[in-house]
Amino acid sequence: MSWWLRHGDHKSAVAPSLLAADFADLRGDIAAMEAAGADLLHLDVMDGHFVPNLTFGPVVCTAIRRCSDLPLDAHLMISRPDRYLEPFAAAGVDAVTIHVEADSEIAPTLARIEQLGLKKGLSLNPDTALAAVAPYLHELDLVLVMAVQPGFGGQTFDPLTIDKVACLNEMRRQQEHRYAISVDGGIDANTAPAVLKAGADILVSGTYFCRAPDRAAAARSLRL
Ligand code: DX5
Ligand code: ZN
Repeated sequence: MSWWLRHGDHKSAVAPSLLAADFADLRGDIAAMEAAGADLLHLDVMDGHFVPNLTFGPVVCTAIRRCSDLPLDAHLMISRPDRYLEPFAAAGVDAVTIHVEADSEIAPTLARIEQLGLKKGLSLNPDTALAAVAPYLHELDLVLVMAVQPGFGGQTFDPLTIDKVACLNEMRRQQEHRYAISVDGGIDANTAPAVLKAGADILVSGTYFCRAPDRAAAARSLRL
């Protein structure tokens, strides 16, 4: 079974973005997310420089690790991810996803992520063309397609994302790559079906999933 799936009978995964979690009760909220069917946890790390918002870093990731055995994907929205890989590895995350638009050199940063024994993810913003990530696709475990400008939860899904996902799916098939395709931003019951049909494997959801009155039903609505 793929590393990002928890249930063998599911084709795609639901990854709650903890940005919309209850930070006063992370342990309880994460347990509720697991019970509702979360497959992995998406950790939005922001530096106030790469994006105009600040969130949390390795200390909180360490605490999250102690609350859950689910795979953790650290989505690093920071200008210099190369400077912080060791602390995130020490925090016990399973995957580190960097941005192709960041100021670090991409190839050596990915190589270091692999050396640290972690899954390698690469993310691209809505206005970044797939050509920017193409040179790295053969070695990636995860491609994180942003459907909103990174920085904040609760934004509107950009429908141009669907074409990008379809292209990534086709390139993966043709070139026999192994990466999972994940989509982040504005995912809900209305936007999920087209994204899944285009070939996405992991749907990240902050606002919709975390604020849903019935999270188990919300998780089901994010699967094909
Ligand atoms: C945006 C983050 C997303 C965000 C998703 O910068 O990368 O993970 O939290 O939140 P929603 O699902 O509310 O768009
Ligand atoms: Zn994210």
